[in-house]
Amino acid sequence: MDNLQGFHRTHYCGDLRANHAGQIVSVCGWVQRQRDKGALIFVDLRDRTGILQLTFDDQTDREVFEKAKSLRSEYVVAATGKLKEREAKTDKIATGDVELYVTKLRLLAKAETPPFEIVENSKANDMLRLKYRYLDLRRPDMQKCIATRHRVAKIARDYFDEQGFLEIETPMLTKSTPEGARDYLVPSRVHPGKFYALPQSPQQYKQLLMLSGFDRYFQIARCFRDEDLRADRQPEFTQIDLEMSFVDEDDVMSIQEGFLKRVFKEVLDVDIQTPFRRMPWQEAMDRFGSDKPDLRFGFELQDISDIVKNCGFKVFSDPVAAGGSVRMINVKGHAADFPRKKIDKLAEFVKTYQAKGLAWTRLHDGQVTSSYQKFLTDEENQAILDRAGAQDGDLILIVGDAKNTVVWASLGALRCEAARELGLLKKDDYQFLWVTQFPMFEWSEEEGRYVAMHHPFTAPMDEDLDKLETDKANCRAKAYDIVLNGTELGGGSIRISVPETQEAMFRALGFTDEDAMERFGHLINAFKFGAPPHGGLAYGLDRLVMLMTGADSIRDVIAFPKVQNASEPMTQCPDFVDDKQLDELSLSVTRKEESSDQD
Ligand code: AMO
Repeated sequence: MDNLQGFHRTHYCGDLRANHAGQIVSVCGWVQRQRDKGALIFVDLRDRTGILQLTFDDQTDREVFEKAKSLRSEYVVAATGKLKEREAKTDKIATGDVELYVTKLRLLAKAETPPFEIVENSKANDMLRLKYRYLDLRRPDMQKCIATRHRVAKIARDYFDEQGFLEIETPMLTKSTPEGARDYLVPSRVHPGKFYALPQSPQQYKQLLMLSGFDRYFQIARCFRDEDLRADRQPEFTQIDLEMSFVDEDDVMSIQEGFLKRVFKEVLDVDIQTPFRRMPWQEAMDRFGSDKPDLRFGFELQDISDIVKNCGFKVFSDPVAAGGSVRMINVKGHAADFPRKKIDKLAEFVKTYQAKGLAWTRLHDGQVTSSYQKFLTDEENQAILDRAGAQDGDLILIVGDAKNTVVWASLGALRCEAARELGLLKKDDYQFLWVTQFPMFEWSEEEGRYVAMHHPFTAPMDEDLDKLETDKANCRAKAYDIVLNGTELGGGSIRISVPETQEAMFRALGFTDEDAMERFGHLINAFKFGAPPHGGLAYGLDRLVMLMTGADSIRDVIAFPKVQNASEPMTQCPDFVDDKQLDELSLSVTRKEESSDQD
């Protein structure tokens, strides 16, 4: 094996072009493939910038030629030679106009055959890719995702610095507080039986920094939440987190618009229009069935409860009588794309959102077929079609339920599913939206009480302040989410900065004064010493990069992500620890057999 002594890289492989021809060039990297044509050997050399063809021919020193003969995929080499313009140019690779005639070749490391090919758009199975993540990360598409992530983080640092924000780190070992997702806990050795919690976000610390007078804080912060994983959720993830003093909602939002405009321009060369649209939460739910509406297509929800409330069809009238609603979407102009079988599939789909069924009318080729029309009067049927603006070619899909949340969730998901089926979700169509005026509280079936929809430090809207303890269902918050193409990119709020309001909020959440003091005493006390009005926001960096790279999951933009069951296939964590370590922590554990890994 050779060593690197005296070798100095002059260029990255992917940067070389025809204008470099004639230069003596030194490059290094991994062998993508070697093609031995007898008297000619070609080696595609790959580094993080791309691929360069190395050429060995009858002019090549014999020793170098023999070494080139021995090269295999993923061997690590360094090569020096003269760059020449190729006779047979190719536009398949960016360096397709040139090739390097190698005069010196060093073999730096051999490699076993990798378990999957190191190529773009690998078809290898996800678990295998994650088990050998270091090889997976060699693939150009993964390199691009990770590099884009770096660019986004760098631009965030630059932008917020220019706007007067200070980057301040906050602790990783913190106090467990209720009112969020489940915490990851860390046992204390020094305090037997006591636990730290890993931060779900730096929320309380950043508010305390406002009390300390830092005025504008930001951090690229690691966050930990023990919750079920989804394509856009990981147990540990990264926020671009910020907080500002002496601001209202508009101030926080316009700073974000500046950031997003800049990052999309610099990374993707895409001009996004600001200010973004704004929509109150209630309108988002009523029109799109979601607090993160995808605005790339229509199929908006319409309420038909008033039409069907007294109809003879119980599937429609019962939900309205029970305080729920019946709503529809019109998949306009696409009846032909949804024959009966596909409608049945959509009916199965809405069941995953607890809907009991899907009613439909299909207007196709002058024919009207329907799952419910025979149960309604002509007037009722006509009123539904009129409200839908139905014409030949349309497909009306209806869900009714005693719970509005079920109607919204199922139709909200259904409109997206229909759009996906129809190929309407263009990844490069960036539709930003602020969702505002969120409810302060949401009812938790599990806990049988109202919980904070955002978090307990979010300020109520001024006009709803008196509802905080008396009319929780209708109390709205100074909270806002930034939504992009159906994904919640970030969320934030103006905070409570008046101690009495914070105490009222804790009472509204069902905390006794003692409970609140025990859990949030540091914050309650701090607020007694002069709190500036403040507010902020946090982006999911992973989600932002996912949408900017067109990745399907945040896994693809995280170097070492976890899989569905929160384990990491490469290092195989979490893992058991020695009894000695447990003893030191005064812990005893019951080991349970686990089901096999899933991805
Ligand atoms: P929130 O809980 O809405 O707000 O989180 C902010 C953003 O972080 C991202 N995010 C996640 N990304 C990946 N995996 C997860 N498990 C995950 N959970 C959240 C989302 C989300 O919009 N402290 C407040 C912010 C504030 O009020 O300033 C907070 O954490 O993109």
